[in-house]
Amino acid sequence: MRVAVLASGNGSNFEAIAQAFETQAIQGELVLLFSDRKDAYVLERAKKYQIPRFSFSPKDFASKKQYEAALRDLLLTNQIDFVVLAGYMRIIGQDLLETFPNRILNIHPSLLPSFPGLHGIKDAYDYGVKLTGITIHFVDAGVDTGPIVAQAAVEITNEDTLATLEEKIHQLEHHWYPRVIADITQKGVK
Ligand code: GAR
Repeated sequence: MRVAVLASGNGSNFEAIAQAFETQAIQGELVLLFSDRKDAYVLERAKKYQIPRFSFSPKDFASKKQYEAALRDLLLTNQIDFVVLAGYMRIIGQDLLETFPNRILNIHPSLLPSFPGLHGIKDAYDYGVKLTGITIHFVDAGVDTGPIVAQAAVEITNEDTLATLEEKIHQLEHHWYPRVIADITQKGVK
């Protein structure tokens, strides 16, 4: 299975995934990293793993459709079978969804359908829920919607600050995302 990761930011999930490919906990090949932000730290992380990095942003194109067409071409040229979103903060357009049906996976830092969007951890913390977590799901045309593959929960205690909660969530993500990717790519996708 030839896998691409799309990411917009820090890249801690990308790194957990890259390590899992390196130890062959995930079978297959991590073919490329794409970021829609040229200054994203994830691009720096990819250097260490010698994974080819690509970056362009919607601003480089006349329309979102053209941006996505370029991204689609990049993925098709590299014969990508499976796309993993790791903090990729954009909605996936129809063309890409149709090119990779049931082949785009996302991770979100809350127990969906609660707290979708850009600030899943903070929104759950501010709301005051006692239980939150992570959701791994296939991507559809919505924001953090699509069939759920796995969830893991974590308690928010009275001692938690936003920072400690973020740390707990990221630990859960780094533990589960590579395992779920391994499971799905090994079983094959329908
Ligand atoms: C992760 O917590 C991921 O769940 C979240 O962005 C973070 C990226 O961290 N994704 C979303 O909120 C998607 N709606 P990372 O760059 O360190 O992997």
